[in-house]
Amino acid sequence: VTRVLVVEPHAPETELLTAPAIREAAAILRRGGLVAFPTETVYGLGAVATDARAVARLFAAKGRPADNPLIVHLAAAEDAVRVARDIPPEAWRLWVRYAPGPLTLVLPSRGTVAPAALAGLPTVAVRIPAHPVARALIRAAGAPIVAPSANRSGRPSPTTAAHVLEDLAGRIDAVVDGGPAGIGLESTVLDVTRRPAIVLRPGAVTVEMLEAVLGDGAVVDPAAPLREGEAPRSPGMKYRHYAPDVPLALLDLEDGAGAAVEALRALLAGSGPPPAVLATEEDAARLRALLAAAGVPSDRLRWVIVGRRSEPQTVAAALYGAFRSLRPEAVSRAFFVRLPETGLFRAVMNRVRKAAGDPPFPGQDAAPAAPAP
Ligand code: TXA
Ligand code: MG
Repeated sequence: VTRVLVVEPHAPETELLTAPAIREAAAILRRGGLVAFPTETVYGLGAVATDARAVARLFAAKGRPADNPLIVHLAAAEDAVRVARDIPPEAWRLWVRYAPGPLTLVLPSRGTVAPAALAGLPTVAVRIPAHPVARALIRAAGAPIVAPSANRSGRPSPTTAAHVLEDLAGRIDAVVDGGPAGIGLESTVLDVTRRPAIVLRPGAVTVEMLEAVLGDGAVVDPAAPLREGEAPRSPGMKYRHYAPDVPLALLDLEDGAGAAVEALRALLAGSGPPPAVLATEEDAARLRALLAAAGVPSDRLRWVIVGRRSEPQTVAAALYGAFRSLRPEAVSRAFFVRLPETGLFRAVMNRVRKAAGDPPFPGQDAAPAAPAP
């Protein structure tokens, strides 16, 4: 059975260090166990990074393909020298500004982490989480901790302890319940072994924020929409998606709102479970008005409100819970009302496109990743 260890999420890190739940969780990790815990992005599934057996159990518990490497979590940027070598000056400059925080840097590996954790790569991804529970746990364990998102492979990342148990109850030793994770989307992954640095996964630390530290043009995001006249890029990265349990498609209210309305009219006329619409409060109100104006009866439509468009962080925080709420018994399929690809919405739309299995831009995922099933 999986133990649930409850902590007070708002306690300061120093107090958490001696909290019984953290001491117990750290002891489980040191014995080679698997413990899920909250971070400021999503819940992670931790194991001691130098323990090859624990790392093997972790891949098995998630059903994770062996060729997808894990992120090493540390309490302080200085500790990076224990797992990485030849750390470029760009990394230190970014850490001054964004450590601790939702930024993961790919660096040359020192060879101290279990090779399976790195999927045999010569690089290691390093993150210094900001969540006090995560920080206290890493410090109490006294070791670098590998922590992929604490979901079954291919499922949306968990943002609560309940999500973790939904996927992994009975497969892991414990979950530290510290309330909802903060941002709700996984960290930005930036490969700083290359110049310019490459965004392998967009997150809450945006390209603009990275360039504010490294300078204009120092960072490229191959997943970003192409600019006018720009030739298609083909970085050859593999594609992978975080699928909800029903098919997901994008709905565009800017271009072709008429087509969206007609598609919903047709689906609502059919029998069986109705479709769901995932939208911000503002977009839901707009679409309701459009449907009403077109005489489409929308009472059977399942509305899943995903935050407020005027507050992008509320959308990020609600996204994965919304994906998980889509049950095939209740809805036939789902539509997500498209958001502009700016700021935090760039990371939101990256996850939505992957969930929709619809990569309009090449190279959206961190490389190397598993092929879509
Ligand atoms: O916010 C996060 O990063 C969360 C929390 C728990 O910290 N963790 C997380 O881990 O999202 P995971 O394993 O679900 O995603 C790690 C991503 C994968 O896309 C993986 O391919 C990439 O990071 N990655 C890890 N090591 C890498 C490496 N050496 N080179 C390139 N990509 C790497
Ligand atoms: Mg993951």
